[in-house]
Amino acid sequence: MMNRNTEETAPSFIPFARPSLGPEERDLVIRVLESGWLTSGRYAEEFEKAFQEYLGVPFARAVNSATAGLHLSLEALGIQPDTWVITSPYTFTATAEVLRYLGAHPLFVDIEPQTLNLDPRGVEEALERSGKPISAILPVHLAGRMCSMEPLTDLSRRFGIPLVEDAAHAFPVYQRGKAAGTFGNAGVFSFYATKTITTGEGGMVVTPSEKIAERVSMMRLHGIDRKAWDRYTSNRRQAWEYDVVAAGYKYNLSDLCAALGLEQLKKADSFLRRRKEIAAFYFEQLADQDYLLLPEKTPEHAWHLFILQLLPDALTLDRNAFADALLARGIGTSVHYKPLHMMTYYRNLYGYKPEDFPVSLRTYQHCLSLPIYPGLRDVEAERVVEAVRAVGRQARR
Ligand SMILES: Cc1ncc(COP(=O)(O)O)c(C=O)c1O
Repeated sequence: MMNRNTEETAPSFIPFARPSLGPEERDLVIRVLESGWLTSGRYAEEFEKAFQEYLGVPFARAVNSATAGLHLSLEALGIQPDTWVITSPYTFTATAEVLRYLGAHPLFVDIEPQTLNLDPRGVEEALERSGKPISAILPVHLAGRMCSMEPLTDLSRRFGIPLVEDAAHAFPVYQRGKAAGTFGNAGVFSFYATKTITTGEGGMVVTPSEKIAERVSMMRLHGIDRKAWDRYTSNRRQAWEYDVVAAGYKYNLSDLCAALGLEQLKKADSFLRRRKEIAAFYFEQLADQDYLLLPEKTPEHAWHLFILQLLPDALTLDRNAFADALLARGIGTSVHYKPLHMMTYYRNLYGYKPEDFPVSLRTYQHCLSLPIYPGLRDVEAERVVEAVRAVGRQARR
């Protein structure tokens, strides 16, 4: 691997996630601080343009979180109350909560065991047989592993139902040359602190539709028909005049955050290279550990997360005890995710039982995410592998 420095000694604790920020980010944030304009302005616009160019999409709109971006995309598509949106239960709660903001419901379809993404056959069955008014399909590219987009886009076309991609984990990653987030009516990326690039908090909506882009622009800032930046900085007369045409939201991305995004975007390719390198190292070093099920080895992966599964029949420790044993060796791990149908809110609302989505349940019980981020040094990745192997040796049946 790269970054080998034999002089280096690994720190005592290896966190599960750590942002990679350098002097470039610091310098640009300081420039914003000194500019006298902190909220959405020229840097937010520049970030949108750079993101648009990077993905080769016609419209990108910066927002203050992917949650906000998902909400605004679905709102712009006119998702109505009491309709159902097909999505995965195997995701972070943001994916489904935005449906509830709109009075709509998640129609959960179980995941494929290999990809941990929505099973297109389940989606087809739901469209054909659920008997519910379905208003959209909302796939999640879990961990950065792309969903199989062809069957999903086919179904969206065949049933005339919009497709919005939750690409919070999936920047950047491609399927047959086309980027995650660019297949449907809208795609939403997250720049939360642990994501593949970060603005601290932030997100981006991309869309091929000018109408959606305009609606998102307006609704992210109070439903005002003109940019706040115009309002305060233009030196035309009566610049304070503005109209409110809808009850919008406060979802704009500040220039402070956008400055981080501009610099992070320049590093997106090198960050991806490093995450791929770490994934390749884990594959190489853990392939012979027969109590582990490693994720699928595929180029269609942004490697935001490296989710492995522990085979319960081969081990005397369950997942939590395995994670505790790694923690005792100074390795931070995490679990992605406790499925939404097992969460109190969704359980109470829809009466789910854990086994209603058996693949999600089983994956949750046995999954463990290892540290994978550009700043993870070779010595640290080696320590992760050594710790997994050592715990595995002790816990092997
Ligand atoms: C799959 C998924 N969708 C959406 C989100 C929401 O992202 P944000 O924190 O930017 O609102 C997250 C956040 O972790 C996520 O994991």
